[in-house]
Amino acid sequence: MTNPETKPRLHIITGSTRPGRVGPSVAAWFTAHARAADTFEIEVIDLAEVALPLLDEPNQPGEQKYTHEHTKKWSATITRADAVVFVAPEYNSSMNAATKNALDYLYVEWHYKPLGLVTYGGISGGLRAAQAIKQVGAALKMIVMPDTVMIPRVSSLLTDAPADQALAASALPVRTLTAMAAPDRTLTATPGMDRSAAALLAELLKLTLATAPLRQ
Ligand SMILES: Cc1cc2nc3c(=O)[nH]c(=O)nc-3n(C[C@H](O)[C@H](O)[C@H](O)COP(=O)(O)O)c2cc1C
Repeated sequence: MTNPETKPRLHIITGSTRPGRVGPSVAAWFTAHARAADTFEIEVIDLAEVALPLLDEPNQPGEQKYTHEHTKKWSATITRADAVVFVAPEYNSSMNAATKNALDYLYVEWHYKPLGLVTYGGISGGLRAAQAIKQVGAALKMIVMPDTVMIPRVSSLLTDAPADQALAASALPVRTLTAMAAPDRTLTATPGMDRSAAALLAELLKLTLATAPLRQ
C-alpha cells in the first residue's frame, strides 16, 4: 500500500535462476539507476534465492488459501510492493519458466501494481519475453507499462572488470558504485540504455503515485 508520507516501494526482481546467469549483472545496473534517482524505496529480489518450487499449491491463487511457507513468504513479499520491475531474460521467444512460475503463484497480490520490464537476450533484446510478461501482467490486473528497457546482445556488454573501472565513463554518481558491483561480471551500459532506464523509472514513479488509491 502506498503511503503518501514515504517513498513508494519498488521491488526489482531478477527472473533468471540458472548457474552462470547474467541476470544479477543486469539487475545491479538497473538497481544503481533506481538508487541514483532516489524516488523509490528499493527492495532487490532474486528468484534464485526465493527458490520457489514449481507451483505446488492445491488451491487457486485467488483464494489466498496458501498451504506452504514459501508461498506465504512470497505473498508477503509482493504484498509490500507498490511497483515491480522484472529483470528478465528471453528464453525460446518468451519469458523464462522461473519468472512465469513466480507470477503464477499469486493473484490478488499483483493487482494494480505498476509493472516495468528490463529484458535482455540476443538481437531481440528480450522483446518477446517482454510481450509475454505484459500479457500475463494484464491478466493479473497489473498496471502494465508500455515502456520496456531492452538490452540486445547482452553478453557483449559484460566484462570481468571491477565495477569502478568499468563505470569510470558512466554518468552515474560514485555512491551507486557499490550497488553496481554484480557478483562476478559488470554490465557496461550504452548511453541509450542509461537513458531508457532513467525514462522507465520516471514514468514508473508517475504511474505508481497516480494509481496509489487502487492499492488501498
Ligand atoms: C533456454 C534458453 C533459451 C534461450 N532462448 C533465447 C531466445 O529465444 N532469444 C534470445 O534472444 N536469446 C535466447 N537465449 C539466450 C539468452 O537470452 C541469454 O543466454 C541470456 O544470457 C539468458 O539470461 P540469463 O543468463 O540471465 O539466464 C536463450 C538462453 C537459454 C538458456
